[in-house]
Amino acid sequence: MEESLEARGRRIFRELPTLETRRLTLRRMRLGDAGAMHAYASDPEVARHMLWEPHESLRDSENFLRFVRERYSRGDPAGWGLEECETGEFIGTCGIQGWQPEHSRAEIGYVLSREHWGRGLMTEAVAAVVGFGFDRVGLNRLEARCLDGNAASARVLEKAGMAHEGTSRSSHLIGGGFRDLHHYAILRDDPRPG
Ligand SMILES: CC(C)(COP(=O)(O)OP(=O)(O)OC[C@H]1O[C@@H](n2cnc3c(N)ncnc32)[C@H](O)[C@@H]1OP(=O)(O)O)[C@@H](O)C(=O)NCCC(=O)NCCS
Repeated sequence: MEESLEARGRRIFRELPTLETRRLTLRRMRLGDAGAMHAYASDPEVARHMLWEPHESLRDSENFLRFVRERYSRGDPAGWGLEECETGEFIGTCGIQGWQPEHSRAEIGYVLSREHWGRGLMTEAVAAVVGFGFDRVGLNRLEARCLDGNAASARVLEKAGMAHEGTSRSSHLIGGGFRDLHHYAILRDDPRPG
């Protein structure tokens, strides 16, 4: 019997193969990444445009990694850790979330340690994850959301070939002020850069 798209997706997300780009290895996260994760996830400048609070303690990062590892074992999508090839340093995460197999769509999310911003690294990672979502998982649509004011993230999405489809006005109350949320997406048959 032919494997359903959902069963195939679960099998792939459970295995979550390592991906290689020119400067990065995208690999499964480990509990041992907690220290490196805490170093950037506790940075308020990194968390400023995220929908989570900065990690206060190492325990927050450990708990997040435990949550990710549980998702791997269930075959639910969870991110890859980004390891810089040259140094072996764990510098961020990127991956597929919000998978809706019945609609063959999912969302992309990412975060990078501040000292590595502006080197084109996330553009590299997102291209690999988009390729994985379409070519390996067989998705039809990948979406991403970013808060207004996060120009670097909007640019990463544009460089990945994603189209800005609309804006939810005043959708998030953050730090006492309402912020708009931008919606981006790319379809399997849309042109992909590079
Ligand atoms: C968003 C983020 C992942 C970008 O990673 P990165 O590796 O620095 O991104 P890249 O270098 O691949 O590309 C960034 C692009 O944004 C541009 N950019 C950066 N800051 C900018 C700003 N303030 N205004 C306009 N463009 C900006 C860069 O010039 C570059 O575009 P270019 O190649 O055309 O010059 C990183 O800044 C980050 O982790 N931010 C905090 C977490 C976050 O916001 N995650 C996404 C939530 S939706």
